[in-house]
Amino acid sequence: MPRAFCVVKWLAMSDISFEDYFGCAPQAVASAHGRVNLIGEHTDYCGGLVMPTLINQKLVVQIALTDTDEIHGKSSEFGTMRTPALHVPSGSWLCFVKGAISLMNEKGAAIKGLNILTLSTIPSGGGVSSSAAFEIALLRALSDICAIALDPKEMAMMGQRIEHEFIGTKCGIMDQMAVAGASFKQALSLDCASLETQIIPIPKDMAFAVIHSGSSRKLSDSLYNERLAETKKACAQMGYEQLSQAKLADLKMLSDEILMKRSHHVISENRRVIAARQALINNDELTLGALMRESHLSLRDDYEVSSEVLDNLVSLTIAQGAYGARLTGAGFGGCIVALLNVDSAYEIIQNVLVQAPNAWLVDCL
Ligand code: GLA
Repeated sequence: MPRAFCVVKWLAMSDISFEDYFGCAPQAVASAHGRVNLIGEHTDYCGGLVMPTLINQKLVVQIALTDTDEIHGKSSEFGTMRTPALHVPSGSWLCFVKGAISLMNEKGAAIKGLNILTLSTIPSGGGVSSSAAFEIALLRALSDICAIALDPKEMAMMGQRIEHEFIGTKCGIMDQMAVAGASFKQALSLDCASLETQIIPIPKDMAFAVIHSGSSRKLSDSLYNERLAETKKACAQMGYEQLSQAKLADLKMLSDEILMKRSHHVISENRRVIAARQALINNDELTLGALMRESHLSLRDDYEVSSEVLDNLVSLTIAQGAYGARLTGAGFGGCIVALLNVDSAYEIIQNVLVQAPNAWLVDCL
């Protein structure tokens, strides 16, 4: 997505009010922020460890229920669509809404149809969880209207079900847990097997820049599902329930080199998250930076989810003075996250953007 596109789209829609468009006031307004994963990539669906935090970009939904059996939506990102609630075309953005309605109705709501307006500054396809933000914002609004209380963990699990059952992406739980439960300036250390969390404050000297490479994800769904299948196969061959339980010494049980590489990434990435958590606690930017650099190499070489554009941007950012940088999210395009010293952050970012004209700064935390 080109530089500042989402802001332009937001501005283009910000003069359209729900009242003007739908002829009534919204019954609920809710929002959710995107997330950036600092480290722990492609480990969540293996029962592993991750460490995301929130970004400032957010998605807002305004909703009013109707008795029309119809979903009528307007979105800054995806345009306008009106469809019978039971026959939402697959692949359309209203599938998220259909999923949220269906899961809320399972909880005792009696939603037939609704009008919805959404505004977003989260770049979609950028690895910063625009989909999870949509799911969580929808669930927040509907739980408010229907007076059905949902805690963040419940919401996260419902968000993941929307992805699995209504969108067709067999994602892990990291994005929804982060979007529903993380806070600004704090890393959410999450064990994706037990869903236990620990909050780690981000030291004041550290800045994390989220830089979009300018190339959005390519073939990400099919390759994501391929990686998922490979990790499941490796897990079965080693006799574990979850790949994150395996040890490096177990790799010799695997039948082929691809499965060894994939498993090597997951096992080593888990170790890096544990070390990174300690480095954050110790305010040790050199160690954290080195772990982020290792994480990127592992994603590039063992997990094979990087791209030339991402690799070049990571190298450039490190050459300009970042302690470390890595792709963030599913990969295959989208964003990188870089660890910088807070005093030199903007100078480094500026130098990077001059030399990578398609890249743009999403956020600096
Ligand atoms: C996507 C998925 C997450 C996670 C990351 C990779 O963001 O939605 O569940 O697997 O990719 O770490």
